[in-house]
Amino acid sequence: MPPDLESRRHRLANALPLGDAILVVGSGQPVPLPENSDQTYPFFSHAEYAYLTDDDGIDGVITYDPRDDEWLSFVPAVTEGERVWEGTTQRSGLPLAEFSPWLAARSGRPIANLGALRPEIPADVTLISHIRNGFRHASRSKDAEEITVLRAAAAATAAGYAAIPALLRPGITERALQIELETGFFRAGATRTGYNTIVGTGPNSAILHFSPTARAAQTGEFVLIDAGAAIGRYTADVTRTYVVGTPSPFQRDLYQVVLAAEERAIARCVPGAEWTDIHLACAVDLVAGLVAMNVMRGHPESLVEAEAHTLFFPHGLGHMVGLGVRDASGLLPGRIKNPRPCLRTLRMDLPLAPGYVVTIEPGLYFIPPLLQDPARREKHRDVVNWSLVDQHLHLGGVRIEDNIHVTADGPENLTAAIPKTL
Ligand code: GLY
Ligand code: MN
Repeated sequence: MPPDLESRRHRLANALPLGDAILVVGSGQPVPLPENSDQTYPFFSHAEYAYLTDDDGIDGVITYDPRDDEWLSFVPAVTEGERVWEGTTQRSGLPLAEFSPWLAARSGRPIANLGALRPEIPADVTLISHIRNGFRHASRSKDAEEITVLRAAAAATAAGYAAIPALLRPGITERALQIELETGFFRAGATRTGYNTIVGTGPNSAILHFSPTARAAQTGEFVLIDAGAAIGRYTADVTRTYVVGTPSPFQRDLYQVVLAAEERAIARCVPGAEWTDIHLACAVDLVAGLVAMNVMRGHPESLVEAEAHTLFFPHGLGHMVGLGVRDASGLLPGRIKNPRPCLRTLRMDLPLAPGYVVTIEPGLYFIPPLLQDPARREKHRDVVNWSLVDQHLHLGGVRIEDNIHVTADGPENLTAAIPKTL
């Protein structure tokens, strides 16, 4: 289903606080590899441009002038070289050569240059930031076409994950798991992965963004996989954690704590709920589980107040996902970053609204660089069972992540088809 660009642009034009400023949104240029060959990094048009045009081509510009109430799309002429080497065809739009005269006819007006910066436009960083905040906010609620493609990305992601349980035997490498997972994505319609696939076995499962290696999983180890199939520019972002063979009672308890906290956090994803509150409530649930496991001591709320949860849950609860793996995360316009140290890592601070799609991804990890840090040990000396922690220092970690569509009728888990039983 192609996006309804006309209504998307109309909504943006009404929502952006442009005043008399003109809007110029650039798609960007490919970045050459450092060795100066004719190769470039994979090109993705700037997400703001892609949102307005559904176009992934280079060097395009889309403009909006509030005086004319008119959107115009300028695209470069396809070259013979592009036709010969890449089979590129001419994109529809006005010739890019007409952009300069269009801009010159508006000289003296403020220009909000979103997307990729145009070299001929002096960057007005204050205006850009103001308009970008408005853009981000206006694009937060996913429209019907975006939800449709996200469902397809979630289905392709589920197909990849379906291959994993049968492969979880001692000796399987992280790399082999990545290959089978991504093969499943592509067979089910993915056009790429939405970000670099994370696979960590054993202690590597506690490294938050671990790149798969030739390390082989051993019996009794955790295996953490965080990956998403993308279709076009839209991606899912899913994490599952497994154990090779039979989990130990401690592993099972840790897993159940994370799973229960994740399910409770998902249930809290309703319109009007503050993201920071959902994050902190989840931190309390995780800490309560650690207290029940005798890993921590004290009242869960007080432990979270003292930031002790960050020893085992050092990241935010999630982020918005869709047009890219971070999509329109960030702050509600008018808010400033919460100064509380344990909230600095949160990727957003806003109330949820219908149409938002967020990840919910709590985790509990044994991360040696955090747990062996003398300052942290001293600060939290009395609230952590350090000898038990030391016994499990190389156990790794558990993260469970789903993609939640916030609706007026309650949370809809787009990735519910991917099993979560240990
Ligand atoms: N999927 C990786 C992340 O959300 O950071
Ligand atoms: Mn994520």
